[in-house]
Amino acid sequence: MSSANLAFGIDIGGSGIKGAIVDLDTGSFATDRVRIPTPHPSTPDAVAQTCKALIEQFDLPQEMPIGITFPAPVVRNTVIFIANLDPSWAGVDVADFMWSKLGRKVYAVNDADAAGYAEVVYGAAKDVPGTIIVTTLGTGIGSAIIFDGNLLPNTELGHLEIDGKDAESRASSAQKERRNWSYKQWAKRLQRYYSHVEMLFSPDLFVVGGGISRKHKKFLPLLELKTPIVPAKLRNTAGIVGAAALAAAELTEESHDS
Ligand code: BGC
Repeated sequence: MSSANLAFGIDIGGSGIKGAIVDLDTGSFATDRVRIPTPHPSTPDAVAQTCKALIEQFDLPQEMPIGITFPAPVVRNTVIFIANLDPSWAGVDVADFMWSKLGRKVYAVNDADAAGYAEVVYGAAKDVPGTIIVTTLGTGIGSAIIFDGNLLPNTELGHLEIDGKDAESRASSAQKERRNWSYKQWAKRLQRYYSHVEMLFSPDLFVVGGGISRKHKKFLPLLELKTPIVPAKLRNTAGIVGAAALAAAELTEESHDS
């Protein structure tokens, strides 16, 4: 397979590890997506084994850039803290670790930042100037802030403290399921969350991603905000697409630098 304009994205989540080859010209999958359940405990060794098994299902040229998302802040490839995977990931340099386990160069990025980047390059926030906040609603709440096309990485707006509680513990879609809330009941929590974020950042646009954004018609119209709020276009492909696109940009730049 020629690797021109292709890169591989891996999205590591609390329940599944998913991967696909991405066509960087269109921001769509060039292959089917493969999903393997996340191992438990989700230690670095166990997750690396799963990534290996995933990669082996594709015929990836050695030089193809690989981007990996984590549900955690990732600063220069190092996981800072992690709420929804094994805590032993904290402090791990993912690039070094995956090099030792997979023998491949990878670029690691926060899952919501990857999704936000994908929405800006290919999706709902394409060519939108100003401040855009992309949130992903899932096991946690992820956030990406983009200003005039530039990503401010590692914002953790899911962990804002609202009414004395961690926001994602009140308003994530996992909480909706766990507590069996109707969309109307959940929307009350979302309203409190988004109006707080709106007050703090005065964004020009909110984009809402995560698996549940497929059902956006059931909850986005219930929210009353000054800021337009729209569903993500790439939905739950955004993590893989964004990771692949960022890996292609960052790893190619790195090889030009060296
Ligand atoms: C993590 C974030 C992540 C979000 C969505 C939060 O618990 O701290 O880094 O983006 O979940 O997975």
